[in-house]
Amino acid sequence: MIKVAPSILSADFTRLGEQVKLVEDAGAEYLHLDIMDGHFVPNISFGPGLVSALRKKSEMIFDVHLMIENPDIYIAEFIAAGADIITVHAESSRHLHRTLQLIKNKGIKAGVSLNPHTSPECLEYIMPMIDLVLVMSVNPGFGGQDFIMESLPKIKRIKQIINSASSNAEIQVDGGITIITAPLVAAAGATVLVAGSAVFNSSDPALAVKQIRRAAESAIK
Ligand code: DX5
Ligand code: ZN
Repeated sequence: MIKVAPSILSADFTRLGEQVKLVEDAGAEYLHLDIMDGHFVPNISFGPGLVSALRKKSEMIFDVHLMIENPDIYIAEFIAAGADIITVHAESSRHLHRTLQLIKNKGIKAGVSLNPHTSPECLEYIMPMIDLVLVMSVNPGFGGQDFIMESLPKIKRIKQIINSASSNAEIQVDGGITIITAPLVAAAGATVLVAGSAVFNSSDPALAVKQIRRAAESAIK
């Protein structure tokens, strides 16, 4: 089953509550929350205060994507703010196993994200701790970039690693997802599709969520 995860990075921040409700009513399963610190990525977005404010307005699964240095020191704060899944970058954590322990010990789901240049082999020995692998299909930091095609064989390789570990981890793809790229990533094995600009820059975000889901599902039926 395909899940759609709208990223509010491209939403209209002056009416964020309404925008979240639109995609929730359209059936999007995850709300993707991009946290950027201006160090790990060259952009600054928002922090736990905004996550906590939205938590009071939405029942969606809060999928927090940490693009920050030293993720360990913020994990408790994002869990308190309402995160259901916390995804950290393999490149930002010196002791990734410990970071995952911190998340799992709090009883929520843990994801690992890989930048476009990062080989998936680093996942092998931590697979039992991972609920989700996030494949960055653009360089992290900004919405609206073009999908990197080399992500497709990478998704297939990650699917093999997940299968050989007998894991149920989901594969999430983030960056440049549109009705054109959605079927390609779904055919490669991704089941959770993040979409920022394709949803919130559309004149009808609810329709965009449904179209992305339909496009992805058409590739796996
Ligand atoms: C980029 C973020 C993405 C971003 C995707 O670093 O992680 O979640 O919002 O935006 P689009 O879908 O426009 O590529
Ligand atoms: Zn993201």
